Amino acid sequence: MSAEVRTTTETEFADWLRAVNTGFLNSAPPKPEEVAARLAGTDLRRTWGAFDGGRCVATYRSFSQELTVPGGAVVAADAVSAVTVTPSHRGQGLLRRMITTDLGEARDRGEVVANLVAAEYGIYGRFGFGRASRTARWTIDVPRTGLDRRRWTPPEEGGRIELIDGAELRKEGPEFHDRWRVLQPGAIDRDERWWRVNTGAEESGTPFTEPFHAVYRSPEGRVEGLATYTVEGKWNDGKQPANIVSVRRLTATSPAVEGALWRFLCSLDWVVEVTAGQRSPDDLLPYYLPDPRAARLVGTADYLWVRVLDTVRALEARTYGVPGTLVLDVRDDAGVASGRYVLESTPDGASCAPTSRAADLVLGAGALGSLYLGDETPTRLAALGVLTEERPGALARAEALFHTPRRPWCPDMF
Ligand SMILES: CC(C)(COP(=O)(O)OP(=O)(O)OC[C@H]1O[C@@H](n2cnc3c(N)ncnc32)[C@H](O)[C@@H]1OP(=O)(O)O)[C@@H](O)C(=O)NCCC(=O)NCCS
Repeated sequence: MSAEVRTTTETEFADWLRAVNTGFLNSAPPKPEEVAARLAGTDLRRTWGAFDGGRCVATYRSFSQELTVPGGAVVAADAVSAVTVTPSHRGQGLLRRMITTDLGEARDRGEVVANLVAAEYGIYGRFGFGRASRTARWTIDVPRTGLDRRRWTPPEEGGRIELIDGAELRKEGPEFHDRWRVLQPGAIDRDERWWRVNTGAEESGTPFTEPFHAVYRSPEGRVEGLATYTVEGKWNDGKQPANIVSVRRLTATSPAVEGALWRFLCSLDWVVEVTAGQRSPDDLLPYYLPDPRAARLVGTADYLWVRVLDTVRALEARTYGVPGTLVLDVRDDAGVASGRYVLESTPDGASCAPTSRAADLVLGAGALGSLYLGDETPTRLAALGVLTEERPGALARAEALFHTPRRPWCPDMF
């Protein structure tokens, strides 16, 4: 094997981006303005490549991210992205070399977990990642909602909905998102580049369609909710409007505001269907509508994958459903998260420490990642054979401890 795995230099960055495109089956080379914009927001010390004969043949990058955990604390995460191996160089261990080095460095930097959105289910379990949240796609049959679109009224809660443009969103969105994301386990932060790319102010390599942005303001003018959507203009042969709204993102600081935004979208003139992807699997969306059956869950899949890098800090950062003690024996082939730990949850917070006490539960790093944000339950993982109860009653205790009232959700792709 001749390819050299190392970080990428500034002069190699355009070729590195070209290799990312190749790996994602996009034959177009990146435009110079995209290369310049992406370079400005990239930490080259965490931008890995494999180089063969002067050509980039594998790519991988990581960056610092904040992940909200149950209870509202945020932990430092190593966000992994742009993972590709050029088809001619697959199966030579290039991904394994890049990810092993990066996860080791992330652990040394003090990052608590690593995070990614997996293109394919089978890739990352072997590296200690577990599926940690799910995503859901919904379709709303607008005429069935029971909403009277001729009588759209402002939200009953006293706030108002306004349409704003991308420049205004860049001003108001970041502060709103920072207030929202700590309310939602599984949510991540958005950097300045995210707001520029998602408002069309920066070239990203993907064609940009200007969306609408509807904000919900409290009576005092504070942004409490945000819906970003596009509309596909469609009319049928009988000159009847059949427009479809695609919701790119909808987040709100309370269910009342969330409901008001959904009803606003379902009350737009000419619209017969509202579709929404990347929603939470336990979204309340149907119940905001007079007829909940107007909203259909049309697809669901795993979304965020989490790999615990520091078991003690990860388990201490989140809150638990009840007070209690549990001894976890974590098995991790890479040796990163492994050890036997006693977790103690009290009304004042949780503590976790290495222990020599007998284990209550034995689980792998992947199962720990799946439990961490509250998406999976110990009982389900035991049924699947990836978690073992070593002491009678331990599974029920773990169930009560790890229980979270709502499921985790990450609305963002990275
Ligand atoms: C996914 C990808 C990077 C893997 O490249 P690769 O050259 O096979 O990587 P490696 O040789 O280092 O393989 C690492 C391990 O992952 C496994 N693997 C690779 N691709 C896999 C897949 N699609 N499904 C399941 N396992 C996979 C390999 O078998 C190997 O396992 P082993 O070490 O236990 O034997 C490459 O196939 C690719 O670029 N795919 C298209 C883009 C993509 O899906 N990227 C992931 C974005 S999240």
